[in-house]
Amino acid sequence: MNIQLIKKVEEIVGEVKRFIPLDEQGCTSIVQKVRTKNGCFLLKSSFEEKYREWLRNEAQVLEKLNHQKQISVPKYYGFIEEKLGSHLIMSYEDGITLTKALEQAKCKTEKQSLIRSFGSFLQQLHETKILESQNHHSDWLDSQLVKANGYVERGQTEGNFQLLEKLKSNKPSPVKQTFIHGDCTTDNVLVVDGEVKIFIDVAGMTVGDPRYDVSLAISSFFNDEELKDSFYEGYRRYNVSKEEFIYFDEGLYEFF
Ligand SMILES: Nc1ncnc2c1ncn2[C@@H]1O[C@H](COP(=O)(O)OP(=O)(O)O)[C@@H](O)[C@H]1O
Ligand SMILES: [Mg+2]
Repeated sequence: MNIQLIKKVEEIVGEVKRFIPLDEQGCTSIVQKVRTKNGCFLLKSSFEEKYREWLRNEAQVLEKLNHQKQISVPKYYGFIEEKLGSHLIMSYEDGITLTKALEQAKCKTEKQSLIRSFGSFLQQLHETKILESQNHHSDWLDSQLVKANGYVERGQTEGNFQLLEKLKSNKPSPVKQTFIHGDCTTDNVLVVDGEVKIFIDVAGMTVGDPRYDVSLAISSFFNDEELKDSFYEGYRRYNVSKEEFIYFDEGLYEFF
């Protein structure tokens, strides 16, 4: 890490004792635990244009959520943009991803309990009241399709124009928009004491289509009926159909 960056980080968190790379890394960033005498922080850095933009969005989302308690996310401390990279500083949360917790679970019952808790945690988000100041009133799916188009044009995605056209002409009939996480896989929630308690990786958190969250949430256990049942024991507001699941998880998600 360059000295200027360390200085900028220290302006925000105070003197740094150590930067410790995390064992679990994401796909769009490098994450490090920052140990200081005031406690620990998380430094998330991205270097590619697309991911730097996502990180800037994540910083804006976290900053806006700093003064509320309904949606559980890390606390925002600062965002640093340098010529070659962008860096977000947030609270370090003691927890493990749900993916890891499921791997470590000793039996099916433990897995079911984790997944049930994931369902009810997501339900809570989808039922959070949207304040007028938070509602942009635009159609989330339309704007995602526009974004996807830009990514295809710039070669920034695995999705292609053919799939995009299919998605544009086969939009599922609309449902009421809610707060959504926007990338709600088992990688992007943290488990504390056996329960899903914190959303991370929140660049896509906005008002949008809740079926996108549910589809991504159940994707890693879609073919396991028992685990899916457990999810819906926690998430009671809506069951996504097979068609909706395919549209969102195998379709739209390809572009992001
Ligand atoms: N605030 C946090 N506190 C503790 N660990 C975190 C925090 N945010 C992220 N992590 C860890 O870093 C990993 C990558 O973070 P994530 O935001 O999901 O990055 P990416 O966008 O690259 O997927 C996560 O899987 C998690 O283990
Ligand atoms: Mg992630």
